[in-house]
Amino acid sequence: VTPSPFVLAHVDDAPPGRALDVAGGRGRHALAIARRGRPVEAIDRDPAACRALADVARATGLRVAVVCADLACHPLPVGRYTLVVNTLYLDRVLVPALVRALAPGGVLVFETFTRAQLATGHPRNPAFVLEPGELPRLVAPLRTLAYQEGPVERDGRTVHLASIAARAPVA
Ligand SMILES: C[S@@+](CC[C@H](N)C(=O)[O-])C[C@H]1O[C@@H](n2cnc3c(N)ncnc32)[C@H](O)[C@@H]1O
Repeated sequence: VTPSPFVLAHVDDAPPGRALDVAGGRGRHALAIARRGRPVEAIDRDPAACRALADVARATGLRVAVVCADLACHPLPVGRYTLVVNTLYLDRVLVPALVRALAPGGVLVFETFTRAQLATGHPRNPAFVLEPGELPRLVAPLRTLAYQEGPVERDGRTVHLASIAARAPVA
């Protein structure tokens, strides 16, 4: 699976510094971000995905620190990251912690499925998709830099996504 063009387009909106990729899976974004010279911390609860990512990072010499943990019980550091990425994962309760994890002026890039995606059969659980127009409200009080919502082509398939890049206040 290739990195999201939206994520790649907004990585460099973030000031230099550490990045966090939550529920990062096998690290399509963690690796792409590390390739651009940022140290990345990637958290996922799936041991196989974590191992695969750690192996690639080691083999390629990329600075990706992999943490195998459940985000539901793994407190995130406050003010540590200039970039936080959350893709294809929706835990509304986690979002305030993602916002707090940002350093002043840091950028959150968040992209996941919307309700329209349910018609395609994956995901099936309505709790795991965004309502129309929900994402900017969810990441308030960050300032929106870019936002898009609707059908897009990804890896040869049409998927229904909402995507946002939003910045934390500078002070
Ligand atoms: C659909 S994948 C998305 C992976 C990656 N963000 C991407 O866009 O390629 C969802 C990921 O969320 C992880 N995940 C689900 N619940 C989690 C939790 N409570 N804590 C940590 N990771 C979780 C899964 O292990 C899986 O790797």
